Amino acid sequence: MSETAKIELDGKVYELPVVVGTENEKAIDISKLRDLSGYVTLDTGYKNTGATKSAITFLDGEEGILHYRGYPIEQLAEKATFLEVAYLLIYGDLPKQSELDAFENSIKKHTLVHEDMKRFFEAYPAKAHPMGVLSSMISSLSTFYPESLDPNRSAEKKNLTVHRLIAKLPTLAAWSYKNSTSHPFMYPRNDYDYVKNFLYMMFAMPTEEYSVDPVIVSALNTLLILHADHEQNCSTSTVRIVGSSNANLYSTVSAGISALWGPLHGGANQEVIEMLEQIAADGGDVDKWVAKAKDKEDPFRLMGFGHRVYKNFDPRATIIKKACDDVLSKLGVNDPLLDIAKKLEKVALEDEYFKARNLYPNVDFYSGIIYKAIGIPTDMFTVMFALGRLPGWIAQWKEMTENKEPIGRPRQIYVGATNRNYVPISER
Ligand code: SDX
Repeated sequence: MSETAKIELDGKVYELPVVVGTENEKAIDISKLRDLSGYVTLDTGYKNTGATKSAITFLDGEEGILHYRGYPIEQLAEKATFLEVAYLLIYGDLPKQSELDAFENSIKKHTLVHEDMKRFFEAYPAKAHPMGVLSSMISSLSTFYPESLDPNRSAEKKNLTVHRLIAKLPTLAAWSYKNSTSHPFMYPRNDYDYVKNFLYMMFAMPTEEYSVDPVIVSALNTLLILHADHEQNCSTSTVRIVGSSNANLYSTVSAGISALWGPLHGGANQEVIEMLEQIAADGGDVDKWVAKAKDKEDPFRLMGFGHRVYKNFDPRATIIKKACDDVLSKLGVNDPLLDIAKKLEKVALEDEYFKARNLYPNVDFYSGIIYKAIGIPTDMFTVMFALGRLPGWIAQWKEMTENKEPIGRPRQIYVGATNRNYVPISER
């Protein structure tokens, strides 16, 4: 394997170092290219550009492989708890029982939100989208905890800020839902585990005893693990670049929430259900809608299909699809949208257009079916994605700050008007 890459420009040959990762991924280190040659590289959308070296998540798009800190997602989804995986991503290895207990107890100490923040909810319109509420609320945490403003002050302060964020996001997410239903807010219960406490704050009412089917808790635990990190995706890259300016963790994650909201990214899970409902309302003719997805003149895309990296099955979609059948049958739920989703997948995967472009179901294609079955409302789906992705954002931010990476500032190629003189308005 070459140790360097040679590039010839204007008759001169430049040698650039080759970087090889632990899973044999290869890159050309171009950090000195402009100083040496005056040239920069151009890669709109960073489709072929590595932004960093990371030890958190490995994915192989061709083979459909996803590992968190070396552990296969299939094993973690089946055997771990979400907070155990959060600890693994953030601190680098699976916790011992004493470490996990300390992590969970620290988080339980911070699940309450400053009472003044409750008043913020009164200012939102009743039908405010919870992602807009959540990104504002998470950024506002920085105003209640000024010690978070210097993220690198001390390891202890950094850890406190991290634990506060993991503890308070579920409370704020559940309260944004309660606010949209004009139901009373439910305060966190520290005798419940992380997932059950979130479901309690979402669905309990002060007038009755709360109980939840363990199938639902287990399904949500699995979904959150599957969403926990995904290397340098759009929202994680946003977190890394915002955090690289030394912005505090709360406003950095708030930026990640905003990026995730986009329908091409985490917002796709909501779009998938709305798409399936539209197809069902239209009579369920999947052939018609697959044809629309292929028609360049038609803006319709098959939401939940395709991926920038996976050119094979998204391993998370494989697990979620299986969980769909399992959870719905255990809950006795028969959702016609699942049948439409399966038909859509079958037709698409046999179609040359999708095969030629390696378009497979991604993590968002089936996740909404389970969220719907466990009672999560559609406009909360992307909030669920954010809840799952939070440990990944934190881990990537922590790695970037601890590696003292420079502020992110890409270059460009200017293609606008060249030098010209100002023209007085009377002469234009
Ligand atoms: C997530 O990056 C991550 O890791 C993200 C994520 C994570 O965990 O963080 O995995 C989560 O965001 C999953 C993706 C959710 N988004 C969707 O499901 C929206 C629908 N998918 C697409 O918009 C698209 O596939 C993307 C955005 C996911 C990927 O887009 P790319 O890599 O920029 O690919 P592209 O848009 O250039 O598409 C290549 C071709 C094009 O056709 P041609 O120009 O070659 O003729 O495939 C076509 C596209 O038109 N295409 C689709 C399609 N997705 C791509 N055609 C129809 N339906 C689709 N869904």
